[in-house]
Amino acid sequence: TPTIETELLQVARDAARASAEVLLHYYGNARGVRTKSTDTDLVSEADVNAERAIRALLAERRPGDAVLGEEGGETPPTGESGIRWIVDPLDGTVNYLFQYPQWSVSIAAEDRHGTIVGVVWDPVREEEFAATRSGAPTLNGAPIAASQQSDLSQVLVATGFAYDARIRARQAEVLSGLITRVRDIRRGGSAAIDLCWTAAGRTDAYYERGIHPWDYAAGALICERAGLAVRELPADHELPFGLAVAPPALVDHLHALVID
Ligand code: IPD
Repeated sequence: TPTIETELLQVARDAARASAEVLLHYYGNARGVRTKSTDTDLVSEADVNAERAIRALLAERRPGDAVLGEEGGETPPTGESGIRWIVDPLDGTVNYLFQYPQWSVSIAAEDRHGTIVGVVWDPVREEEFAATRSGAPTLNGAPIAASQQSDLSQVLVATGFAYDARIRARQAEVLSGLITRVRDIRRGGSAAIDLCWTAAGRTDAYYERGIHPWDYAAGALICERAGLAVRELPADHELPFGLAVAPPALVDHLHALVID
């Protein structure tokens, strides 16, 4: 119902800001940098403390909900709300560490029917993208409109690359097949922002493999509510799961080109 959507939306907005406050505190001075899964996957004290701030806020405001987070894993539900938060305290960690000003906080809540609310907060630009299951997507409260492009040769496509070198090599092959057929490619470094910018028409389409629910849960809802088609790229023996997002008239063509 709209009432629960309104409540969860406010909690998501507050949680995103709580995370950003921690991140901005460390910005330009990220301590405790260490590598995660590979040498290019970094995590800092900032991410970890930002996720703590989100979890503390959710525990206080929504004590019966479960939480899935990039840094802290899954917290089992302590109640029976049936709602789970999917949080990325810092999407675009490499950008953040380099002070390349494109990183975000991504907060979504879901139930057994799917995503209920999604908020992506870009504290550098002070841009908040949001959507609810039954509402229109917004940027700082104002409506956004996605591209309606149907000609593949004209599209500006956002993408990203996994941290694993073997996957990257395959992604480079896919990209080399696409780059000659489209207007151009962008690699922004925050999947959540890539999705929101596609929802807002700043790029026409987005695809990426190797993304996780905390990277895309909020952004994918915002894209869907903006009228974009969101297609899965199922994992196969070489490549991890991904998404292809495009205007409905274009999605089959893009999907076919990036599926392997
Ligand atoms: C990463 C960013 C990046 C994408 C990677 C993600 P992280 O998230 O969204 O743009 O290409 O797939 O893992 O690690 O900075 O939270």
